[in-house]
Amino acid sequence: MSKPFFITTAIDYTNGAPHIGHAYEKVLADVLARYHRLKGDAENPQEVFYLTGVDQHGQKVQQSAEKAGLEPQAYVDGITQKFTALWEKLDVKYSAWAATTDALHKECVRANLQKLWDEKDPATGESRWIYKKTQRGFYSVRQEQFLTDKERGPDGQFGPEWGVVEERDEENFYFRLTQAPAAPGQDPATGLPGCDPKQWLLDLIDKRSAEGKPFVVPDFRVAELRNAVEKLEGDLCISRPASRLKWGIPFPESFGEGFVTYVWFDALVNYITYAPGHDPHYSERTAKQRSGEEGSGATSPAADAANIEPASSLRSFAPSRFNDFWPPLHVIGKDILIPAHGVYWPIMLKALGFADEEMPTLLVHGWWNIAGAKMSKSLGNIVDPDLLADKYGPEALRYYLMSDITTGKDADFSEERLVTSYNSALANNLGNLLNRTLNMAEKFRPITAPRNLNINVDVVELETTSSTGTPETHLLPAGTAFHLTKLKSVVRQNKDEYASWLDRYQCQAALDCVSEIAQTCNETIQATAPWELAKSAKVGNPKSEKELSAVLYHLAESLRIIAILIWPVLPDAAHGIFDQLAWKLDEAGKDTRFRLAEAVWGGLPDGHVLGKPVPLFPRIEAPAPAAEK
Ligand code: MSP
Repeated sequence: MSKPFFITTAIDYTNGAPHIGHAYEKVLADVLARYHRLKGDAENPQEVFYLTGVDQHGQKVQQSAEKAGLEPQAYVDGITQKFTALWEKLDVKYSAWAATTDALHKECVRANLQKLWDEKDPATGESRWIYKKTQRGFYSVRQEQFLTDKERGPDGQFGPEWGVVEERDEENFYFRLTQAPAAPGQDPATGLPGCDPKQWLLDLIDKRSAEGKPFVVPDFRVAELRNAVEKLEGDLCISRPASRLKWGIPFPESFGEGFVTYVWFDALVNYITYAPGHDPHYSERTAKQRSGEEGSGATSPAADAANIEPASSLRSFAPSRFNDFWPPLHVIGKDILIPAHGVYWPIMLKALGFADEEMPTLLVHGWWNIAGAKMSKSLGNIVDPDLLADKYGPEALRYYLMSDITTGKDADFSEERLVTSYNSALANNLGNLLNRTLNMAEKFRPITAPRNLNINVDVVELETTSSTGTPETHLLPAGTAFHLTKLKSVVRQNKDEYASWLDRYQCQAALDCVSEIAQTCNETIQATAPWELAKSAKVGNPKSEKELSAVLYHLAESLRIIAILIWPVLPDAAHGIFDQLAWKLDEAGKDTRFRLAEAVWGGLPDGHVLGKPVPLFPRIEAPAPAAEK
């Protein structure tokens, strides 16, 4: 049985409505999740778990809420609703929804902090991973943040936008990214706390590349991350005084009063909180198990370690479902690879006891820009996916987002291209093919029905079996034999290529494979002219009747396979095609209707009666002005 598939994304900040970049990432992950569902079959279901959600804490959210005159929770609830409504509209089908203000998540964050706090260095009695330190720096009272030299103007002064700037001391908690103190008696090579996290990460990146399972995809990002890790200095500040940031998760009591976690120790933990099979109460169980063990005579740290799993081993207290799914394929944009997801996250997981083979794979996508520029509120060029979905339909938007960008690279968003690519790939190519095929099948039904005839292009003969089971051989004109054989091989080859592209996360190229099948079908119609065959069959030519039924079969069968392949990107249209082919009607509307294993020639039975033609992709007539907020 293949390993279940776990896919995660960045969780979006709730300080504004979703934009096209958010929509792209969530649709991309949805398509990959659906592709993995497609790869399963009824006997051996490929379990797929897609986790996405929202990042609801932080200074920016607090400020946006203040501006809106709302309590932060009321504010994030409103924005969160915009995200969930958009995913519903776009048919983004996630298995779990992460919302960082949920009690469940807060509990998990605090439990993780507690675990790392309790991981003591026996020599000092201090945590090996987290320490407290006072830092002196320049603080902008107006912007409520510490300033660095980057914020100084050319004259070396902090500009008026910062208001009053004063020197302050601030105490905070830090998470070690660089050399953690070695624990006595521990071999740094084992990778237990005491190792140098930075060196460990460099080794991990190299090891994963050498094994052919790069930590980061695409390849050019590996070198980028490696360089950044090499330059890594210092540790990660993970707290803010509650007096300065109210909208965060308070630290557990054992850390002392008055601190909330800061950004990454909150947001990045969601992948554990909401992972399939994760038990949010594992920390309590750990504590109970520990006291139980102590009662049984384990007193020294060494004996403790021998009798129970290390405190850092999260997995040992989680049900096996967690182990079955973990680690995820993690889909993020290029801006958050360094340092958050490519440096902080693996080191956090390492500290929590995840083994090297349990580190995720980071799939880093590029950005959608507008005329080469970044989308931004100040430029007023933010593209609203909700508007576009209303204007052109959710599937037109899904198709555009998957077909006009190469995974990993940047692209320019263009509403005009959304319209032209829809019209050419869907309305003219696939939609037209479906419509023509069904119209012909309906019109020629009195003469013949699609039949799966065995065509041998070499001998230019048509072999079949009569209704009585006696083999029949029919001469087939060389042209028709050639075109049908070619179509069949284009279908087979493009289906294989489609799968190999999607296995490498390349949706654009996979969609090209599907378009090529549709285009070959349309060329086959032109080349074989079924209407001529129908005329000839009508005047009693049995060979033409066989030929016509073979052509219709090849078209209908190609459409059945196209529907399967297109399903991850266009689930609704795929159902529409199956409905019109009158195929698997008992599974109408269900995901299980589509299986990659069934995308092989010969699925439709001889004489299958196709349904009524209904236009599936009506042409979009006039491209309208850009949809901006
Ligand atoms: N909240 C953090 C992520 C925390 S994950 C533990 C965050 N949020 S975000 O809302 O700013 O971005 C969410 C995702 O959208 C990121 O992966 C980001 O790269 C992606 N995009 C934001 N703008 C984008 C484009 N213009 N184009 C494509 N994706 C972009 O970062």
